[in-house]
Amino acid sequence: MGATVVVGGQWGDEGKGKIVDYLASRADVVIRYQGGNNAGHTVVVRGEEHRMHLVPSGIFYGKTSVIGNGVVLDPGVLTREMAYLESRGISLEPLRISECAHLIFPYHLRQDALEEEQKGAARIGTTRLGVGPCYQDKSARIGIRVIDLLDDEAFPELLRRNLDLKNSLLRRVYGDPGYSDEDYREMLAKYREYGRRMAPHVTDTVPLIEQAVRGGGNVLFEGAQGTMLDLDHGTYPYVTSSHPVAGGACIGAGVGPTLIDRVVGVVKAYTTRVGDGPFPTELLDETGAAIRERGHEYGTTTGRPRRVGWLDLVVVEVARRTSGLGALALTRLDTLAGLERVRVCVAYRHKGRRLEAFPHSLKVLAECEPVYEELPGWPELSPRVRRWEDLPEEARGYVRAVEELSGVPVGLVSVGRDRVETVELADVFAPRSASCADGAARL
Ligand code: IMP
Repeated sequence: MGATVVVGGQWGDEGKGKIVDYLASRADVVIRYQGGNNAGHTVVVRGEEHRMHLVPSGIFYGKTSVIGNGVVLDPGVLTREMAYLESRGISLEPLRISECAHLIFPYHLRQDALEEEQKGAARIGTTRLGVGPCYQDKSARIGIRVIDLLDDEAFPELLRRNLDLKNSLLRRVYGDPGYSDEDYREMLAKYREYGRRMAPHVTDTVPLIEQAVRGGGNVLFEGAQGTMLDLDHGTYPYVTSSHPVAGGACIGAGVGPTLIDRVVGVVKAYTTRVGDGPFPTELLDETGAAIRERGHEYGTTTGRPRRVGWLDLVVVEVARRTSGLGALALTRLDTLAGLERVRVCVAYRHKGRRLEAFPHSLKVLAECEPVYEELPGWPELSPRVRRWEDLPEEARGYVRAVEELSGVPVGLVSVGRDRVETVELADVFAPRSASCADGAARL
């Protein structure tokens, strides 16, 4: 029982959606704590595929599903997701939206695109969904929150003020035409309509989260993106504008660190990255292309092909340390099947020197060569495998090697896309000292 944070241990797209979905059926409350609709996850429930960007997957099980204060919300996307869920017969009654979450406006999307274009070759490769500019406004203390949207008097003034500010930026810096009075009136009407749609779900989410945790419920904090995209701990500046690491849950959900019981890191059996920036284990050969095709490694949000590489445990070490990982959920073991040999990066070599720690200089990182350990590959996996002992010996060897080399026990192994296609080695919600199937202490 207790509060569990699920974080991405790589550059995002580790399969958090599936793992959170797997755990959500046993949780009482599921909370998204950062990011926006730049994240996307595909959840497969009883063979039916659902693509979600904002609403936590707890909604599929009727569990309280919270969009926390740390999330930046595009209300157009959210209300479309709400309509989709209703059309599938899924009740929105358990949806709670933090009144302190900041809102994305059309000018954030425009600013995102213009900033990227201006950077030219130095662009970050953002999703251009306005997430970064919205967080910029939050830090600049000019952001508009959900609670402001629901204030009929204050909202028109705040929107007017922000449009004036953005117009001067867009026109003077970027030579963009900016927004007219008519645009303002349209935006105002549209956002008021979004506000009306969201209003029944809007609340101060912080007390309800505390009550759930103190009441002994299973509370799941769902991070978006991954450790390497963290604003502080990732490959800056090729990062997102929020904090996917476990500490982000404290800020983005308003929960005290002493109330968090454990952190599970979701790690894919290989590595992927979308957007620009160094990627030491990147595979630019046929093996990389084959993994991309087998794994349908194309962004859920943007459709961009993901860059693919071997599992990089130097990266996972950053996740272990910055989030205090107690267990790993290792995903996509099925995708990596069928290869004769597989590789795992255990260190980097830089100018003849072995580096065990992740370098924060991007220049050094770009010059690093991975030091690999090679392991036998495993045959195709049956998605019906549920027990550890039914996994091929070589696949078990890979899992054990990941545990040993990362120093973090594996609690879950994913062998397919559907939530049930999972091998559970330990109950992720069990008390910390609980044992896993083979008797070793896990969490
Ligand atoms: P932004 O979050 O749109 O500002 O993009 C910043 C960086 O984070 C870019 O490299 C994006 O590709 C990456 N990014 C943002 N969200 C995700 C995600 O959910 N998965 C993987 N990469 C992401």
